[in-house]
Amino acid sequence: MFLVHDKLTIRNAEKQDAPILASWWNDGAVMAHAGFPRGLGTTPGKIAEEIAADCDGSRRRLILEIGEKPVGEMSFTILRPLPAAEGENSEDPWKDWPLYRGIRGATAEIGIKICDAAYQEKGFGRIFLSMLIRELLRRGAVKIVLDTNLKNTRAQHVYEKLGFVKQGVRMNSWRDQEGVLQSAVDYALTENEFVDYSGESEKCPVWSYRACTGEDLKRLWDMNVADHPGKPIWERFRSQAFRHDALQMAKTYAAVRNGRPVGEGTLLFSPECEAVGELKHIVIPGEVCNVNGLRIRKEYEGQGHISRMMKLMEQDAAVLGFHTVTIGVEPRESRNLAIYLHWGYTDYLEYEFDHGALVIYYGKELCGGDGLL
Ligand SMILES: CC(C)(COP(=O)(O)OP(=O)(O)OC[C@H]1O[C@@H](n2cnc3c(N)ncnc32)[C@H](O)[C@@H]1OP(=O)(O)O)[C@@H](O)C(=O)NCCC(=O)NCCS
Repeated sequence: MFLVHDKLTIRNAEKQDAPILASWWNDGAVMAHAGFPRGLGTTPGKIAEEIAADCDGSRRRLILEIGEKPVGEMSFTILRPLPAAEGENSEDPWKDWPLYRGIRGATAEIGIKICDAAYQEKGFGRIFLSMLIRELLRRGAVKIVLDTNLKNTRAQHVYEKLGFVKQGVRMNSWRDQEGVLQSAVDYALTENEFVDYSGESEKCPVWSYRACTGEDLKRLWDMNVADHPGKPIWERFRSQAFRHDALQMAKTYAAVRNGRPVGEGTLLFSPECEAVGELKHIVIPGEVCNVNGLRIRKEYEGQGHISRMMKLMEQDAAVLGFHTVTIGVEPRESRNLAIYLHWGYTDYLEYEFDHGALVIYYGKELCGGDGLL
């Protein structure tokens, strides 16, 4: 997840964030509300291992930043439907669940901690929560749930402002680190109840960079085809894109502005993709993938959106086991060439003439398989 709204960012936790997470989680003052007044006593190494197992379809730890300063963390967990009881239809309801396709129909459990106390009670909590909730709903979640300590009246106040409905109180249901009995309050929220404090607007948009949902892909291709009237080849590109996506030969990512996809890029995983053609080095299954079709609507060019989306695509490629990402550029497009070199695409691979135009392909080695999406 990668959400940006003015100075606020919510992004996936990465291995490099393990030291700051450890410093927060080992601090009793930060962790007391969660029942650990002496801190968790964990290590950056353990946290890095946990983070490495995160994925959008199950669980994500997220870092909150204000003006690039990490100030806290959030998380979401997708609650899987219960497996069928013995004797019932035992078909796994999640068997066709495409992990990167988001969370359509699911309940998402969320949590938030603004760890740097200097940033509490300044209105940021409700904005961060609104950004995350809106994104989860847009990805297809139908319900958001959370719980809090009965004593945490500040958190309850904020959740109720956001529209969360109290489901009940579990009195003396758990013991904290000191063995003291504690009570929990359960909350749930659906889209109709949600009061959005993000301040998302035309003037101050929320940007999300993500692997396309089915709806994103459809909207992007409706737009691409409409942008090229009288050019039937774009219809062909559209059907290729949907076929590649369905067969997991490729994966498209979107830069989404206030819920509407306006930019895109695709990772090609299979040499069978038409764009790979006769080229030998730009896609090698399981090792090397290619970035194709980077574009953003003219009015949003030069604002860093494609760079952010690319960061996510590279992280995802690393998680999927690819060690190198490649990209092609026409040298006459000197601005694009300069941008790709700046992103680290500096290893010359091969060239081709595509409809008479010279295209040069460069590669970038990914630093280990610890990237995260
Ligand atoms: C809970 C938390 C996320 C809220 O975020 P925040 O940025 O501090 O909250 P906001 O500034 O948006 O809002 C704070 C509100 O709580 C109110 N408040 C403060 N102390 C309160 C208390 N003891 N009881 C009730 N309301 C209280 C404030 O008046 C304000 O409400 P208002 O704007 O209606 O006047 C944040 O404080 C936090 O991370 N705390 C530590 C960890 C934590 O408790 N996490 C939740 C665990 S479930």
